[in-house]
Amino acid sequence: MADSQKQSVQWFPGHMAKTRRKIKEILPLIDAVAEVVDARIPLSSRNPEIKELIENKPHIILLNKCDMADSAVTEEWIKFYKTQGITAIGIDCKSGKGLSSFKTTVKSVLADKLEAYAKKGMVGKPLRVMVVGIPNVGKSSFINRIAGGGKAKVENRPGVTRGNQWFTIDKQLELLDTPGVLWPKFEDQTVGEHLAFTGAVKDRILDVELLAMRLLECLSESYPELLENRYGELDFTLDSYDLLSLIGKKRGMVIRGGETDTERAANMLLEEYRNCKIGFISLERVKNNA
Ligand code: G4P
Repeated sequence: MADSQKQSVQWFPGHMAKTRRKIKEILPLIDAVAEVVDARIPLSSRNPEIKELIENKPHIILLNKCDMADSAVTEEWIKFYKTQGITAIGIDCKSGKGLSSFKTTVKSVLADKLEAYAKKGMVGKPLRVMVVGIPNVGKSSFINRIAGGGKAKVENRPGVTRGNQWFTIDKQLELLDTPGVLWPKFEDQTVGEHLAFTGAVKDRILDVELLAMRLLECLSESYPELLENRYGELDFTLDSYDLLSLIGKKRGMVIRGGETDTERAANMLLEEYRNCKIGFISLERVKNNA
């Protein structure tokens, strides 16, 4: 793409100070952190400060929306996190797949703590897990699924800010929703694009054609066969604008003068990607620097 086309997107700056303070305040009261990320973009769908914010609390990563991701890539991420000492599980909050292993995962991650409780005769003390994640990764869907539609427990314990949302799952487990909003790394262009491809950030503030061209570049590199399965034979030597134009033409999106309506083609491509019509696609894979 020509430099002139690489229009950078203007993002709202993340206002993190308040959330940072709230998390710090709550940290001594929780036993572990469950971080929800989008399995298709596990890097971009994270808050860049999360590792630092949760200090050394046991950490579980929930690779959500795995129904839309490339399952082989999700498995690679699970293995990768294991090498980092983090337990990750793939979940799908639309169907509920994978959720049944959440409680056992929490217990196994906190096995030492449970043992210590048992030794002290503190049986029945619930484990407290804080659920964190940037907007749109499916945090509410996850909590609703796990809590089974149960009502949030209003809490006012010492040290706990009023308004924190605690959910009693059962006698052994309580969940706390993110106190505040955790933003992604908006200032990073790739992060912004990946969030926009998946629909986590609305297109209204973006140039749709430019976005579709960038998506085509990514898909041509990682999933050319899926693109051809969907749109027929393509010429990957074309630049992304011409490729978008070719796809539009194949779909009959021709306007007066024989030109392709590339804006329509762009909207179609983004929509078909988001609805998994092109396939189950992960845009971020494990690399050495992940
Ligand atoms: P948040 O609390 O982290 O902001 O996210 P939320 O649960 O509101 O989920 C954001 C969107 O992602 C919702 O779709 C939700 O249905 C969808 N979603 C959550 N988990 C999954 C999943 O595992 N798989 C799939 N395919 N989708 C998931 P929406 O279009 O905003 O709303 P709606 O379709 O539920 O009405």
